[in-house]
Amino acid sequence: MFDLQPRSYAGKGEHYADLVQQARGLLAGERDLVANAANFSALIYHSLADVNWAGFYFFDGTELVVGPFQGKPACIRIALGRGVCGTAAQSRQTQLVRDVHAFAGHIACDAASQSEIVVPLVKADGTLLGVWDVDSPLTARFDEADRDGMQALCTVFMASIDG
Ligand code: SME
Repeated sequence: MFDLQPRSYAGKGEHYADLVQQARGLLAGERDLVANAANFSALIYHSLADVNWAGFYFFDGTELVVGPFQGKPACIRIALGRGVCGTAAQSRQTQLVRDVHAFAGHIACDAASQSEIVVPLVKADGTLLGVWDVDSPLTARFDEADRDGMQALCTVFMASIDG
């Protein structure tokens, strides 16, 4: 039996609520940035359909530098204000990009990526830690439910290393 309908991602909110619980459990009791970032990216990459990259860029005081991720090798350094990641970092606003080709300055690390969501990561003291970036090979893979879910997941991640 073939399912020819576009994937509807029914129950997305519940899936994210479950993922938040899993992330809490996975990161509990550990405060190491690289360890938690690596496990967080693996958890999310392997829990979401139609995702081809999920990972971190950390701010080194000058620019964004790639951190732990799942997916193909990626661009290493991104200037603040450049691409979707640099825009999220500079504006400190989540970027929900339904079509990366319509985003001026998008950086194509993997030509397969068609849509993307990037959440800025800000520490309790107001300094920028970096961004959380998830890419999809499908156009319009992410919507407002993904934005809310990713932000909730990033809150769990930040609490684990900066709480
Ligand atoms: N597309 C991103 C670059 C990072 S990769 O997708 C992993 C951007 O425009 O910022």
